[in-house]
Amino acid sequence: MKKLLISTLVLLLTGWSSATAGNEDGSRLWLRFEAANATKAISGVKGTAMSELQTYWKGGPVVLKHQKGMAQDAYTIQSQGSKITISAANNAGLLYGAYHLLRLQQMGEDTSALNISEQPAYDLRILNHWDNPNGTVERGFAGKSIFLNPDPERMKIYARANASIGINGTVLNNVNAKPEALTTESLQKAKGIADQLRPYGIRVYLSINFASPIKVGGLKTADPLDADVVAWWKDKVNEIYKLIPDFGGFLVKANSEGEPGPQDFGRTHADGANMLAGVLKPHKGIVMWRAFVYNPQSSDRANQAYEEFMPLDGQFADNVIIQIKNGPIDFQPREPYSPLFTALKKTPMMVEFQITQEYLGAANHLVFLATMWREFFASVKPESLKAMAGVANIGDDVNWCGHHFAQSNWYAFGRLAWNPSLTSEQIADEWLRQTFTSDEQFLKPMTQVMLESREAAVNYMMPLGIHHIFAGGHHYGPEPWYNPPRIRPDWTPPYYHKADSIGLGFDRTTNGSANVNQYPDELCAKLNDINTCPENLIAWFHHVPWDFRMKCGRTFWEELCHKYDTGVKQTRQFLVAWDGVQPYVDCQRFSEVQRKLRIQTRDAEWWRDACLLYFQTFSKRPIPQDVEHPVHNLDEMQKFRIPITMYENPVQGYTK
Ligand code: GCU
Repeated sequence: MKKLLISTLVLLLTGWSSATAGNEDGSRLWLRFEAANATKAISGVKGTAMSELQTYWKGGPVVLKHQKGMAQDAYTIQSQGSKITISAANNAGLLYGAYHLLRLQQMGEDTSALNISEQPAYDLRILNHWDNPNGTVERGFAGKSIFLNPDPERMKIYARANASIGINGTVLNNVNAKPEALTTESLQKAKGIADQLRPYGIRVYLSINFASPIKVGGLKTADPLDADVVAWWKDKVNEIYKLIPDFGGFLVKANSEGEPGPQDFGRTHADGANMLAGVLKPHKGIVMWRAFVYNPQSSDRANQAYEEFMPLDGQFADNVIIQIKNGPIDFQPREPYSPLFTALKKTPMMVEFQITQEYLGAANHLVFLATMWREFFASVKPESLKAMAGVANIGDDVNWCGHHFAQSNWYAFGRLAWNPSLTSEQIADEWLRQTFTSDEQFLKPMTQVMLESREAAVNYMMPLGIHHIFAGGHHYGPEPWYNPPRIRPDWTPPYYHKADSIGLGFDRTTNGSANVNQYPDELCAKLNDINTCPENLIAWFHHVPWDFRMKCGRTFWEELCHKYDTGVKQTRQFLVAWDGVQPYVDCQRFSEVQRKLRIQTRDAEWWRDACLLYFQTFSKRPIPQDVEHPVHNLDEMQKFRIPITMYENPVQGYTK
């Protein structure tokens, strides 16, 4: 096979140091390479690969080579001494290879005998921004939308960061899509962003409002089977592709939480999705149709997506992918996997993870999410999915994500979308070394903190399968008692925890909501029996009696107290670990992270005290002697509200 030599870059080897002295503000993310040469602008994705190497690579010559027969985006890197060859079938593959090499350099790895072969698990690795046209970001904790007035320098860092971890698509706007997302003016804006992202191999997508034909087009209906409606979408899609020839397609939230959808016109999700798929197909566009649906009448919200989507299995067009949240409810600290993943047999599926920490302490808590996502992949085979989406945690804050360590979740999402079998430890190690330093004295304790952090959050927020006991509205902090008059029951914590004098938890067994029946037989039997159900999900599937004997010998109530207490102790340990690595971190990032860890520790106490004192009003049992006792008063905590919207990060947590 004839190998095409694209370019040889002979780069000067210059002395360099991996860390910059002085303060850092986090704005460079994990891409803290120091330039070795001035950047020369070269166009196209191939040009980006060449320019990145030319600017930052400090080793010997690098050959970029097209090689037929390789999978899309796959690449190999081979080196003999200082001569390095990156081969790929497409330009994006060359770019990913270039970033891989730069990553090795940044981590201080030996690059003299490389024999690397990489191929992404999914063709589509995509961020979902929940950004609104007015610049607010739903569940965004890092400032305003980066797309409001896109700053070319920031867009370049954004694009590089994504490409460096293999992300190749981005949905620019909120799933609660405003109809104006499709006005010509908005599309012009989307074109501007697409033009900036294209050289990095990133395509743009848009969330659409299903009622757009009415609200933007002035039609009387948005019925997907109406000829005028189809014609309207066809024209709109043609207009989009004229502006953005490589436009990726639509993300759709329909008939969910008040958003319009095909059911408003007596049609099904399949009718709606297939109509859009039909108009996108000639342009090679796709539809990502979300399965996040539930209605207030259902006796168990966890059952709903399965009930609506199973009858439609096999009815979706081949350019539709059903986008399913990892769990059946809503990005809780711990959920079982959504049963749709093993139930749907004839429908392409993709998982939606939430990178932004809506339910995990927003931008105040250090919670590394790779462990949570790996837990999902322990149950759902990566190869059963077509793609992976992540709800972005990115805003216009200087450090992009609000918390320096929240950057690691953006990083982890990209790395797992490329290779879902990477271990959490490997991802944490890579990220820490690039973002901070490779010094073992730093790496060891901080890797440990990152790996423990999600379980710690589960412990101090919602251990043993408890879920959705968050403060109403903004979801920051505990409010297990939240139950204002006339609210939808499924928007209140008591709907989920069901605390009473007998016990705690949602009975989803065959005697309860029968949610267990949505899982494969063997798993169903295991979950259905309180004695075999995994204890970390016991109150998800069972109404657990307070005196139920846990495997460790404690009663359920005692174990609950222990878990909350353990979570608090873990956060204190994180603070100790961080204080211990001060010599290895610049002052600015050190003090910013320290401040956040202090908030997290105080919040963990708030969670423990609020939940234990509240649940104790039902259990009527003492808090065991060997756990730390609450230091707050329940009535004070019940009066405490954080006055923020769902577009903000609280400056501090519990302040009483
Ligand atoms: C959650 C979240 C909403 C979001 C919704 C969704 O309910 O709180 O802000 O719109 O998920 O994913 O559609």
